[in-house]
Amino acid sequence: MNILLTGGAGYIGACTSLFILKLNPNFKCIIIDKEETQNIKKLQILFPNNIKFYKIDMCRMDLLETVFNDTKVDGVIHFAAYTIVSESEKETYKYFHNNINSTLNLLELMKKYAVSNLIFSSSASVYGVAEYLPIDEDHPLKPVSTYAISKKICEDLILKYSERGINYVILRYFNPAGAIDGIGEEHNPETHLIPLLIRSMLEGNIFKIFGNDFPTPDGTCIRDFIHIEDLANAHFLSLRKLLGEEIKNEIFNVGINNGYSVMEVVLKAIEMFKGKVNKNFRYIIDSRREGDVPALVAKANKIKNKLGFYPKYTIEDIL
Ligand SMILES: NC(=O)c1ccc[n+]([C@@H]2O[C@H](COP(=O)([O-])OP(=O)(O)OC[C@H]3O[C@@H](n4cnc5c(N)ncnc54)[C@H](O)[C@@H]3O)[C@@H](O)[C@H]2O)c1
Repeated sequence: MNILLTGGAGYIGACTSLFILKLNPNFKCIIIDKEETQNIKKLQILFPNNIKFYKIDMCRMDLLETVFNDTKVDGVIHFAAYTIVSESEKETYKYFHNNINSTLNLLELMKKYAVSNLIFSSSASVYGVAEYLPIDEDHPLKPVSTYAISKKICEDLILKYSERGINYVILRYFNPAGAIDGIGEEHNPETHLIPLLIRSMLEGNIFKIFGNDFPTPDGTCIRDFIHIEDLANAHFLSLRKLLGEEIKNEIFNVGINNGYSVMEVVLKAIEMFKGKVNKNFRYIIDSRREGDVPALVAKANKIKNKLGFYPKYTIEDIL
């Protein structure tokens, strides 16, 4: 099987490639990314015969087409996107241009080359400010940030292309975190809670909590953290069922159905790393970041029932 992973040099794409190849040594992962990161080098060392890497900007249709010309693709997992919510608020054009055009080009080529199986990385941010918790897949979609709107538009494009023979699974991730075999979160700039917190604790920096005036019990944002290995497994299960024609055209939340506030995560980490925390570490309350919503917690029954997906890891495992 040849699986095309776009954005596979990034955090979730590289972890998913690793997870898939560990379980299926006969699979080939064709990775497209505009950046060649350390993750690609690690994957090439671990699986020298199973990785083919193309350094390509997917907004360039002509370059993207070379991949489809070169290889028969059985399934696609589309991770590639710009992902930083706060940056998306300042760089609207950059985010819409990249996230939407890369998806549109991919869909058009999948149609042209009759590649019918697609898994798409969507985000809980498409729900916007939660009207109820936990959030099920039927919750209204009212994305707030440019990033979240770009994800919603990509979902709409996929729904339209499903009328042209593309079978999809859209995974709406809640908050992925953690590492698999040394591949972990390394966004640049890093904006995610757990890597920033751990770095501050080790290096003795000030850690900023963005806002304690949200309508939540302790005033800090609540999120549902899903371990990256569980998330990779959600892709694997989706892929297997899509390829086996057991499911098609499904949207699933991927979370653990349990929310933790930012303050709870900070206090839990301090407790767990007692004695190892740099003495200069402290946390402060800063103002809210643009685009952050108060609480996102998944109702994740649908993915359990249809894919047999049971997350194994807890917030303590992630930390
Ligand atoms: N990490 C999270 O918390 C989170 C939450 C919800 C959804 N997601 C989604 O999951 C996917 C992967 O996220 P991640 O955390 O691994 O991000 P990441 O930034 O680590 O990886 C994304 C990769 O996409 C590549 N890319 C972006 N635009 C491209 C283009 N035009 N052509 C080729 N490559 C391009 C980047 O170079 C990067 O390597 C994204 O679609 C993101 O929106 C992530």
